Amino acid sequence: MDLQAIVNDTWNALADERGGGTPARYIPALAAVDPCKFGIALATDDGQVACAGDADEKFSIQSISKVFALALALEREGSALWDAVGREPSGDAFNSIVQLEKEKGIPRNPFINSGAIVTTDRFIGRRGVDEAVRDLIDRLRRMGRNPQIDFDQDVARSESEAGERNRALAWFLADFGRLLNPVEEVLSVYFRQCALSMSCRQLAESALFLAFDGTDPVTGQKMCSASRARRINALMLLCGHYDNSGQFAFEVGFPGKSGVGGGILASVPGRAAIAVWSPGLNRAGTSLLGAKALAEIARRTGWSVF
Ligand code: DON
Repeated sequence: MDLQAIVNDTWNALADERGGGTPARYIPALAAVDPCKFGIALATDDGQVACAGDADEKFSIQSISKVFALALALEREGSALWDAVGREPSGDAFNSIVQLEKEKGIPRNPFINSGAIVTTDRFIGRRGVDEAVRDLIDRLRRMGRNPQIDFDQDVARSESEAGERNRALAWFLADFGRLLNPVEEVLSVYFRQCALSMSCRQLAESALFLAFDGTDPVTGQKMCSASRARRINALMLLCGHYDNSGQFAFEVGFPGKSGVGGGILASVPGRAAIAVWSPGLNRAGTSLLGAKALAEIARRTGWSVF
């Protein structure tokens, strides 16, 4: 299969739709991004990365970071993490608070914001917040052999300044005794994690472990065990797009995680990691064109897991 041709054809088939959807504005720094950007990168276990469009331009990975934070929190906490966060789809928006009260501060899954705040808290553990951020960045740099990966301070500050909803979620969790660390410390890591700036190529390279049993097939670096990788994929499939996860599974058919920066990271077990980027979002915060591109790649490759 000529994957570079499939990536090129997919990009060309959708190029006229660039600018569709609505970029996130609730984080002011994201509103400044050119809505017509569109990139695709597809990484395989032979070290090849098929790219098209703006695949080498960095963008804010936002909630895609929750996948990496989950892998690292599981490494530190083991299965005890699942006492603090569930594994069910929420059916609600990514920043919803409604289930938290009835469910006693245990978020439905690690990908909604409340669940990601708990996951980040466990990833920090008992060490300092700056050490935790350094650890996360170091791991990402090593996984994808991308020493330039870093977070964007302006985006992190912008998100913190506009962070009332996440503060509300975190204080609510704290009231239920669900956080180990002070609210502002947890959020300072969460905001920096969401502000990680990566290109489609870097994302696809850093995420190959998801598709290949927890170990990067190119570098040999292990991120997690094969069974953890399988479970992270399961959660991405069921919860990776919040209240749009069913639609994504229906149209695309492999695990994915969206971010409000317009990126989507997808894992095709045994085959590839794919990252797409287009800033315009659908109502659930998933990139409109990005999801279409992944559906097109799934159709052309026959890679749906179903
Ligand atoms: O916490 C937030 O609201 C953002 N940093 C991340 C949200 C997000 O990316 C939702 N995903 N599509």
